[in-house]
Amino acid sequence: MRFDRKPVRTAIPVIDRQHDQYFDAVEYLFDMYERAEVIPDKVLGILNNIQEYAQDNFDTEERFMENEGYPGLDHHRAKHDTFKSSIDGFMEDFANTSNLAKIIEDLRQLLVSWFVDQIKTDDMALAEFLKKKGYGSRS
Ligand SMILES: [Fe+2]
Repeated sequence: MRFDRKPVRTAIPVIDRQHDQYFDAVEYLFDMYERAEVIPDKVLGILNNIQEYAQDNFDTEERFMENEGYPGLDHHRAKHDTFKSSIDGFMEDFANTSNLAKIIEDLRQLLVSWFVDQIKTDDMALAEFLKKKGYGSRS
């Protein structure tokens, strides 16, 4: 699976780099699934990476919001928290399931659709705010 990353570019370099790192890991997970190589330990390892990359990205964004007095901080942070508890739930389900295919499809919804939508709304709004503060051309 390959994403068109253009629609999710924020033009804030550090944020785009972290999103790329996240999407690379997500693509790797679904490529593995499409090749029918669903080895539970391997999937869990990749999910751990994905979780870590998402956390790095959320920390960066929240630091920007705190430092720059961003008015949408609480709303944006709540979205991050939703993602974090959803992915924690998947890690648990994953350990206890016999229906991997179903979990992988549900994961696609969270890791791709939800995450892309969250970038297009919340991250883009934050990026616009940061550009007005002079970020974007430097990193
Ligand atoms: Fe983000």
